[in-house]
Amino acid sequence: RTLDDAKDLSGKTALVRVDFNVPMENGAVTDDTRLRVALPTINKLREAGAKVALLAHFDRPKGERVPSMSLKPVVEPLEILLGAPVRFADDCIGDEAKAALADTDAGGVVLLENVRFHKGEEKNDADFAKALAELGDIFVNDAFSAAHRAHASTEGLARILPAFAGESMRRELEALDAALGTPVKPVIGIVGGAKVSTKLDLLKNLVAKLDYLAIGGGMANTFLHAQGVDVGGSLCEKDLADTAREIMEEARQKGCELLLPVDVVVAKGVKPGIEHGVRALDRIAADDLILDAGPETVARLTRAMGLSKTLIWNGPLGVFEVPPFDAATNAAAKEAANLAKTGKLTAVAGGGDTVAALNHAGVVADMTFVSTAGGAFLEWMEGKPLPGVDALRA
Ligand code: 3PG
Repeated sequence: RTLDDAKDLSGKTALVRVDFNVPMENGAVTDDTRLRVALPTINKLREAGAKVALLAHFDRPKGERVPSMSLKPVVEPLEILLGAPVRFADDCIGDEAKAALADTDAGGVVLLENVRFHKGEEKNDADFAKALAELGDIFVNDAFSAAHRAHASTEGLARILPAFAGESMRRELEALDAALGTPVKPVIGIVGGAKVSTKLDLLKNLVAKLDYLAIGGGMANTFLHAQGVDVGGSLCEKDLADTAREIMEEARQKGCELLLPVDVVVAKGVKPGIEHGVRALDRIAADDLILDAGPETVARLTRAMGLSKTLIWNGPLGVFEVPPFDAATNAAAKEAANLAKTGKLTAVAGGGDTVAALNHAGVVADMTFVSTAGGAFLEWMEGKPLPGVDALRA
């Protein structure tokens, strides 16, 4: 159920779960992307005459009231983005929260203090969920990026109040469905990042579903090593060689073509502008570090992208934070964005580092959809259930 199914909102109070777990430095928000993502839902509810009570977590205070983890610094940037005042309540349940809401007119916005200041939040405690539910008439979950947590404000509340997916949650689920649920084939995946060990479930799920899977970043070295390539001094999880071979075999059986590096960019250290070179796989020296995919690898990847209708991307292809080792990621990102812009490819990306890498390549606006979710995006790519989403379906 989406917000369009929520009727007669005038005069009602909507408890809206947002993800305001934003980057902060010295008590100031340094990236307001997640605040912007929440605006369509907040505005839609205000226009319908509802009072909006925002529920969110910040960081991991583990049930304690940690002053440096207050949501108060979010008030000012949110007021600027909304062009309206936002009232802050010092607690997310009880008299403090009730008084702030009673003092707010229809169409007004209240931000409630960090739900994780209460132990009941992460325990998904029934009494805590009930105390939250007392504050509102309906529950709107607009926090896809927290939907992998079965907490009171993401899961429990949805079982008590009439529950709806907010605008950002709806957009996110539609994009993810288009990428992996019911995608237009052929589908290509790009998975990068440092370690295979953090992405095992994800790789196993993807080889069963995709037509092509490009593996990049440090994790590709483990696959190369498993194929007998000497990766020199590169990051490599040698103990996972058997697992890498199993994944390669699984891909072969399921008809998923694995695109592993056929050439690499190496250097003797990780420093901006350091001397570097392109190497064939049989030319890697003992003290070489593989820091990016080579041009031939990128050419193969972009060719496969051109043959595909859908792309799902998680993780950079090289050490993109340290130029020139951003070249492969930049080139692949630009190609994906060009194909998406011209309607030839549905290009969906997500997961912490991925957003930073696509931002660095300057292509976020041209991708079909870039998720702001980290852990939730990965768990969804792993094929795991997301309790916050399932509770909205029940
Ligand atoms: C995130 O930033 O990915 C979400 O807000 C979830 O945060 P958590 O990992 O602390 O639950």
